Amino acid sequence: MRIERLLEEKIMALPESRVRDAMAYSLLAGGKRIRPLLLYAAVKGYGKEESLADEFACAIEMIHTYSLIHDDLPAMDNDDLRRGRPTCHKQFDEATAILAGDGLLTYAFEVAASAKCGGEAKAAGMKYLAEMAGPSGMVLGQCLDIFEEQGKTSWDDVQTIQKYKTGCLLSVPMMIGSVLAGHPEDAEKWHRIGDMIGLAFQIQDDILDVRLTPEEFGKSTSDSDNEKVTCVSIYGIETAERMMNSLYDEAIRLVLSFGAFDAAGIIAMIEQIRGRTM
Ligand code: IPE
Ligand code: IPE
Ligand code: MG
Ligand code: MG
Ligand code: MG
Repeated sequence: MRIERLLEEKIMALPESRVRDAMAYSLLAGGKRIRPLLLYAAVKGYGKEESLADEFACAIEMIHTYSLIHDDLPAMDNDDLRRGRPTCHKQFDEATAILAGDGLLTYAFEVAASAKCGGEAKAAGMKYLAEMAGPSGMVLGQCLDIFEEQGKTSWDDVQTIQKYKTGCLLSVPMMIGSVLAGHPEDAEKWHRIGDMIGLAFQIQDDILDVRLTPEEFGKSTSDSDNEKVTCVSIYGIETAERMMNSLYDEAIRLVLSFGAFDAAGIIAMIEQIRGRTM
């Protein structure tokens, strides 16, 4: 896969060190690569070459991987298994895992800054990346998630948490795709679509967390073990599944509502995500 080769190249360009080993360990561990694939599908839907998106595709996957490394730390979800292997802090140690996350986050912006696109598109793409990953995006969501109060968290609260913790990093590929392809006016609508996909994706993740064993899921199933408030814990699996499907359907309907955009690739991605078994 194009993204696998690129990620490996980027990591290997770094000086050899323990932190590089830990970054490589988590990044090159075979995640599903949904976010870079959404970016490529968006750029292609606008009739542009995939190569236009290479650096941002790597940057987004690096930021996503950093979020997983830190999410698994003892101070956060305290999990042992990720992408089918011991989590970064289990394989290395906590200090190295923190630094690997820091390294991936920082390096993501260095890589994005080397994108082969116009300066204005690059600056806009990097701004979206920072906004969606940081304290108005995923970091905010992680904070709300960690400090949610058992028994006091309503479905409205859960949706807000999931919009930030999961929706933002699933929106940003399509937002950046529209900017790189010269259609920044579409970015806000992609944000709304990404929020829907993100909510559906997180509902699905919480269903799989209950249904699968850690071995099948490739990661710890601590969310259900820790009795986190989720769509599943509030409504039960069957209703959660119906809600998930109607969100994916609604996202597809919105993707089809753009004027000059070939929706086939993004819709195929949404269907692939809906059909995921891990
Ligand atoms: C996991 O994301 C984190 C959530 C938002 C639920 P993915 O399911 O995309 O994880 P990888 O990249 O395939 O490991
Ligand atoms: C984390 O949500 C989403 C991130 C921003 C990392 P979870 O904590 O539910 O993700 P998993 O289940 O560990 O992948
Ligand atoms: Mg978490
Ligand atoms: Mg977690
Ligand atoms: Mg989870």
